[in-house]
Amino acid sequence: MPLLRLPGLIDPHVHLREPGLTHKEDLFTGTCAALAGGFTTVLDMPNTIPPTSTAERLAAKTRLAAAQAVCDVGFFVGATNDTDPSLVAAAGAGACGLKIYVSETFGSLRIDDLATLAAYFAAWQGPGPIAVHAEDVMLAACLTLAEVYNQRLHVVHVSLKSEIELIRQAKTRGQHVTCEATPHHLYLTQADLQRLGPYGDMRPALATESDRQALWDNLDIVDCIATDHAPHTRPEKESDNPPPGVPGLETALPLMLLAVHEGRLTMDDLIAKMHDNPRRIYNLPPQPDTFIEVDAEARYDFPASGWQTRAGWSPFAGMPAHGRVQRVVLRGREVYDEGRVLAAPGSGQVIGELATV
Ligand code: NCD
Ligand code: ZN
Repeated sequence: MPLLRLPGLIDPHVHLREPGLTHKEDLFTGTCAALAGGFTTVLDMPNTIPPTSTAERLAAKTRLAAAQAVCDVGFFVGATNDTDPSLVAAAGAGACGLKIYVSETFGSLRIDDLATLAAYFAAWQGPGPIAVHAEDVMLAACLTLAEVYNQRLHVVHVSLKSEIELIRQAKTRGQHVTCEATPHHLYLTQADLQRLGPYGDMRPALATESDRQALWDNLDIVDCIATDHAPHTRPEKESDNPPPGVPGLETALPLMLLAVHEGRLTMDDLIAKMHDNPRRIYNLPPQPDTFIEVDAEARYDFPASGWQTRAGWSPFAGMPAHGRVQRVVLRGREVYDEGRVLAAPGSGQVIGELATV
């Protein structure tokens, strides 16, 4: 079996659901899913209950992760409608960035009025970028705000042709903007909704074939592959009001390795988008003696069950996968081997810990 050795991957966009939503996932199960997917660092979003909007809440999340995480974790702080932007900015040193939800999302963190948005763009002092969920015309608004307030902008889960083309224009004229795309927007479209039903519902919603193709055609503009791992339970997905979001940590690498196999992406590009670029954008510390080993020739269909994520399902079940993570070594320690997580809860490190606790 030919083993491919890659750096420990970095997922700059996951929802580990703790505190407040641990029936969906928690910091242990979510980081187990990360290791199973070949990720040794994940960056967690602030739409928990309560939201990560102040230094105190960031410190509380940090303590939870320090006790439970099995890979390294960084945390975003989030803008809310009822927190003073300067309070959120004060937590910046311990966070990987500021997340602002400008478009429709799961949870209560959406901000779409100019006065509040501008206040956050004015107040943020870094050191991380402002990461925005800003779809369609809202993307133009955020690019303008970033320019006006001289902020580094990272656009999460780009899904539309018009969006990736606008980001290309902004980059071409020298704006300091980066972006990410998800495997589900690269592989699925509205047409899959018939088959997937609520299991194919997420924000941004699956788009058209032309949008999907545009992401592949403009992959040089896409800095990171991010899963937007957004676990919800099966009963929630099958309820009358299913929440948007799909798990993705355990399927991203085999999907991107399939793209390498099919000649749509080089291995160097994969490493850039799943390791080098997220590390640079979020200024993450190096992980010495850390790597993953992948059975590079494994061909199989994704299973319907057997996942590490508490959600226990995948929108990619039954679809072709390429490569399987065999082993993960984090700071010289074997933490995952052939389907088993070997790391003890709390053995992962929290990024920015010293700055917050
Ligand atoms: C995310 C979630 O469930 O937290 N859902 C989603 O559809 N992507 C929220 C988000 O990232 O907008
Ligand atoms: Zn998300």
